[in-house]
Amino acid sequence: MDSEAPAAVFLCRTEDLQPGHPRGFRVASDLSLVALRTAAGIRLYRNRCPHAGFELNWLPDRFLDHSGRYLHCQVHGALFAPESGRCLAGPCAGKGLEPVPHQERDGGLYLLPEPGAALLH
Ligand code: FES
Repeated sequence: MDSEAPAAVFLCRTEDLQPGHPRGFRVASDLSLVALRTAAGIRLYRNRCPHAGFELNWLPDRFLDHSGRYLHCQVHGALFAPESGRCLAGPCAGKGLEPVPHQERDGGLYLLPEPGAALLH
């Protein structure tokens, strides 16, 4: 029965997430993620801007604004707080990036299946 349950997906070694260097992961054709290490720990968000649904980055692993402090949507310029994903400026102010369930264990970062949701197929 549980053999049908989706398994956690290994994304990367946690030591490969360095401050100021977010990483992108395409887990499925319709699921792109961005992971980053912040002062408050590792964060994992769906790579989808809440304004119009575009992926934040145009180039691989290029998620930060020029200051290097904020996640940046390169389509219309929204800025997001790395620790919370909350939009601080731009057309989606007041909304935020969608946090994604994850786990750090054995030196790895894993995407966890959402209970009752179809995040992982
Ligand atoms: S799609 Fe991101 S700011 Fe418009």
